[in-house]
Parts: sequence; structure tokens; C-alpha cells
Amino acid sequence: MSEPDPWADDESVTRLVGGEAEPDERTVEAALRPRTLAEFVGQERLREQMSLVLDAAKARGRSADHLLLSGPPGLGKTTLAMIVAAEMGVPLRITSGPAIQHAGDLAAILSSVTEGDVLFFDEIHRMARPAEEMLYTAMEDFRVDVVVGKGPGATAIPLDLPPFTLVGATTRTGLLPGPLRDRFGFTGHLELYEPAELEQVLVRSAQLLAVDLRDDGSREIAGRSRGTPRIANRLLRRVRDFAEVRADSVVTGDVARAALQVFAVDELGLDRLDRAVLRALCKNFGGGPVGLGTLAVAVGEERETVEEVAEPFLVRAGLLARTPRGRVSTPAAWHHLGLSVPPSAAFGAGTTEPDLFSSVDEA
Ligand SMILES: Nc1ncnc2c1ncn2[C@@H]1O[C@H](COP(=O)(O)OP(=O)(O)OP(=O)(O)O)[C@@H](O)[C@H]1O
Ligand SMILES: [Mg+2]
Repeated sequence: MSEPDPWADDESVTRLVGGEAEPDERTVEAALRPRTLAEFVGQERLREQMSLVLDAAKARGRSADHLLLSGPPGLGKTTLAMIVAAEMGVPLRITSGPAIQHAGDLAAILSSVTEGDVLFFDEIHRMARPAEEMLYTAMEDFRVDVVVGKGPGATAIPLDLPPFTLVGATTRTGLLPGPLRDRFGFTGHLELYEPAELEQVLVRSAQLLAVDLRDDGSREIAGRSRGTPRIANRLLRRVRDFAEVRADSVVTGDVARAALQVFAVDELGLDRLDRAVLRALCKNFGGGPVGLGTLAVAVGEERETVEEVAEPFLVRAGLLARTPRGRVSTPAAWHHLGLSVPPSAAFGAGTTEPDLFSSVDEA
């Protein structure tokens, strides 16, 4: 067929541009996190809505309604949860779906909540089912029924909770049961960032990290950051390494380009998984339409990974479209892979609006 993808097996590419945070990245992230809504770049609409919700709650002297934040990894959900607590002037307590395996785990957390606390519930879609029901009453009535004992002698002791604000974060609203979704007073969806917004993120981070970042440097990095602040910050640190060793520590456009070449981040910022998905779509399935499940098998990944990690950006970049009959590649995808477009390719027949989160699944 055609030449092999030079980066097909380069694990470092995935590490550099994947959406998830690496463990040692968390400390750096903490240092770069905006602390107030005003410092938070982009997401204008969401910021305005959140500031209204929070200001109204403050004016009433009450805790804010429960908030749900959804969106792909690295766009600022955790950051916003921290900002909610900071803006309300209360402590943030943190837990996550995978940490709640039994109703008892949740009861322990809820019973330690004090009035006005913000409880951040990360990856809320991964909470165990038995705990869900308990969360419903906790959110709605500020009450939990703690079951004491086992078998026929078990009794449920109702426990009143002080008013608190639950901030849930999820990469997948679609996976949340309706009753849970309905108990949030406000749902905010984070969108991928525009390059100009990522430039602002980079300028801010460069100041905090004392990096001499020039305009053309930030433009170059922003363009390869897949609409994601976490990736922008990560690429900035790698470009800084390069600049310190090879370029007098000044990050110009040329320096950024040369650095990202070394770290194998392509001009669009595509990573190994993105490229694998596109290649499978174009080469194995003639450009589609192909079902998500089939495509995931072809690249050896979970369908959720393909759908949540690779697709949002591929759709946004105009390389892949979701149609009622399955995924299709666009002409830009073939060009990007350096392949010629076959006349038979069924581009976007019945293409839906690029909708990052509703999944149009195969029949
Ligand atoms: N709007 C923004 N302005 C400036 N920096 C941002 C913004 N959004 C995110 N960041 C930066 O990106 C990094 C990742 O953000 P955050 O951890 O909040 O993402 P997340 O949505 O919680 O990701 P995950 O789904 O992986 O938990 C943080 O270090 C933060 O500094
Ligand atoms: Mg997070």
C-alpha cells in the first residue's frame, strides 16, 4: 500500500499529546492552575453561567446548586471545581467514582461533609451502582440512609447532612444515569479551545515558569495542542527543554517547530492513536462508513478510548465525521496521511453536525 507511518510505534508521541495527565505532571499542573474564574482562559459562556450561579448563591448566603462539568480530558474540569470552592470561600473535598466501590464508602465521605463544603466528585460516571441511589437522596434531600447490620436484622438509620455543593466531573455525560444527571442544578460542557485561547494559556504558563516565549513560539505550540490546555502546557515544557539545551532558552516559532519535530508531534498535534484511527479508517475501510466498535478493534483499543480520546479532536480538526451509518474520513484525512484520495471514498454522506459527545452509533 503506502509507506509506513514513521511515528506509528513511537510511544513517546502518545505520552506527549495524550489527553490524560501523567502522574508526575500533576505537581506542575497544580502550579499552573488558574485560581479564579477571571484567570480561567476561554469557555466564555460557561464562565459567565458559572459566575452567575456562584454570585447568586453568595448573595443568598447559601451553598450553590450542584454542578456537573463534562468534557474531554485536560480542558479544565478539575480546575473549575477548585475555582468553585475558592470563589465560595470554602474548602474543597475531593473524591472520585473509582474510589466509591460500596455505598459505605460514600456514606463515610458524606457524613464528614460540613456546611457549605464543595465536594468534588471526579469521574462520577465510574461510581459503583449501589452507591448511586445513596447519592440521589444526598443530593436531593441532604439525607443518607446508613444501613447498620446485615441480613434480616439490618436497619437503616437516616442521617441528615448539612447543605453542600456537589461538583461532578465526567468525560462522558452519556454514561450518567438520567436520575443522577437530573439532580444537578447546572450542567456545563467544556469545549475544545481555539488556538488563540491556547496562546493565552501558554503566555500565562510561560510567565509562571519563567520561559522566554515569543509570539510566534506560542502560536506554533498552540496550533499543535489539540485544543487542550493540558497538552499546550506539556508541549511548552518540552519546548523549553529544547530551548535551554539548544537555543539560548528563547522560544521562537523556529525553535518550537524544531523541538516538536524532535518530540514527533506533527503539525496538527496528532498522536499515535489519532493517526492509527485515521489510517485504519482510510486504509482498512476505504474511508468508511465504519462502526465505532469495528474501528476500535482495528486499532486495538477500547471503543470508549477511541470515542473519548481520539474522536473529539479528529472531528474538530475536520478529519473524521460521525454519520448515522458510521465513521467516515474526510479528504483532509487522506491528505494528512499523505495518501491519495480514492474516487470511491464516501465522504460525509449524511454527515451530522460535529457533535463531540453524542455518539452516533452503528446499527
Ligand atoms: N481555561 C484554562 N486556562 C488556563 N489553564 C487551564 C485552563 N483549563 C485547563 N488549564 C490547565 O490545564 C491543566 C489541566 O486541567 P484540568 O486538570 O482542570 O483538566 P480536567 O478537565 O480536569 O482533565 P481530566 O479529565 O483529565 O481530569 C491544568 O494544569 C490547568 O492549569
Ligand atoms: Mg480532572
